[in-house]
Amino acid sequence: MPRHVAVIMDGNGRWATDRGLPRPEGHRAGAKALIDVVHGALEIGLSHLTVYAFSTENWKRPADELHALMHEIPVTLRQLYEGDRPLDVRVRWAGLPNGLPADVIETLIEAERATCDRSALTLMACVNYGGRAEITAAASKLAQAAAAGSINPGDLSEHAFSRYLHVPELPDVDLLVRTGGDLRTSNFLPWQAVYAELMVIDTRWPDIDRRDLWDAVERYASRTRRYGSIPHLPGPRPAASPSTSLIGPPPCTERSPTPEGS
Ligand code: IPE
Ligand code: IPE
Ligand code: MG
Repeated sequence: MPRHVAVIMDGNGRWATDRGLPRPEGHRAGAKALIDVVHGALEIGLSHLTVYAFSTENWKRPADELHALMHEIPVTLRQLYEGDRPLDVRVRWAGLPNGLPADVIETLIEAERATCDRSALTLMACVNYGGRAEITAAASKLAQAAAAGSINPGDLSEHAFSRYLHVPELPDVDLLVRTGGDLRTSNFLPWQAVYAELMVIDTRWPDIDRRDLWDAVERYASRTRRYGSIPHLPGPRPAASPSTSLIGPPPCTERSPTPEGS
């Protein structure tokens, strides 16, 4: 079972165009698919789900489409955390406020506040999210902390760096799913998904439902994750020979600066 599934919800526009509908209708249908997938995540006990709702590159779209997206995002969020029977979902927002309408920012902040004590599923909504923007913002905050003397740049670890990401406490992504068939990551989670299992599904996002999530999780379960190692081989370990005992990480030596002109 993956701990963290991240989804690039792609294909809304093509779904609408195929049906002779305006693209905003695809985003409306896509919002319904998301609600179903969140229910499906709760049903199988997934602990972390991240969804790409709007990228820093999506500002290039026509005004009517941006308007539809900026309407759909807060409406969908409210469906998830309000209502008579609110879901046990903690909402987190990853992204930057720059350019977002005030009501979208307010709803994202309110969703985080209203759900902060819910625990079954953490749903990270990537809204106005860009992976490079996230890493650049983290580097900027780190540089400020170093300039203020509160961290030593020479001691920086990957773990310490990750504390400056938008939502630092999330586990790494185990499974990264893209719907709509395209084979790219489009500036999504470059830090968190370095070792994610990748899965591309041809189905366009509005045609997705909870069963597709379950199917993806089942397919994930048959993957072998090696993290740079080799699969575990049963049986006794071979005795170390003189030659193998010489194999190991290179000794730690100070790297000398490259001479100029070499
Ligand atoms: C994904 O669907 C939603 C957003 C990017 C906001 P698209 O709108 O990109 O749909 P296609 O890829 O054009 O079909
Ligand atoms: C990625 O889809 C962004 C979201 C799903 C929000 P895009 O449709 O924007 O990605 P590209 O343009 O095909 O790379
Ligand atoms: Mg797309």
